[in-house]
Amino acid sequence: MSSESHRVIAIDGPAASGKSSVARELALRLGFAYVNSGAMYRAVTWHVLQKGVDPNDTEANNQSRILIDGVDPTEHLRDDGVNNSVSQVSSVPQVRRVLVEKMHHYAEENDLVMEGRDIGSVVFPDTPYKFYIDASPEVRLRRRAAEGLRDEIAARDRADSNRRASPLIIAEDALVIDSSNLTIDGVVGEIVGRLKMTGMQIPSA
Ligand code: DC
Repeated sequence: MSSESHRVIAIDGPAASGKSSVARELALRLGFAYVNSGAMYRAVTWHVLQKGVDPNDTEANNQSRILIDGVDPTEHLRDDGVNNSVSQVSSVPQVRRVLVEKMHHYAEENDLVMEGRDIGSVVFPDTPYKFYIDASPEVRLRRRAAEGLRDEIAARDRADSNRRASPLIIAEDALVIDSSNLTIDGVVGEIVGRLKMTGMQIPSA
């Protein structure tokens, strides 16, 4: 049986592929809730760094409590420290287990557009709505630079694709969209077109 009780649209892809903008826009268009699972891993990473735990110390990370202690870490989620450590922290299976449970819980409450690395492959493998957004390395680097962010996306992609726990992969039944030469609206349009083909009712734009 499927683990979600509401519809889940999974948007996976590498860093800076454009999936956040696309997922946010798509959620607005459909009236679904938007969940950025990367932000959840970033929040935990920020917390780990705040506590002074070495992100490489898997044992210590396993023991850390996943609570943000009433502090909103939003403004810190793209800090250099978080960018540099999020792949290590998110490779800890215990961290993933806690966050995936939260993701499943969100789907009990709402229809979702959820973006991440393993949403179609691991978190919601039964959803019929899976998309993988890619873009060339050059375009992705340019996008990050345009945001004024220093982010070693190639290193992060390597780590995210090669880890043991839920690596970044293209789910077998995902539609792959190369966003290199597309606008956000162009990518959203392709996704909406596919969703219509499955019979989903889409509110008019
Ligand atoms: O989407 P993002 O670049 O903000 O994600 C930050 C990191 O979080 C990414 O490098 C790996 C991790 N992540 C993950 O392991 N699984 C997800 N579903 C989403 C993100």
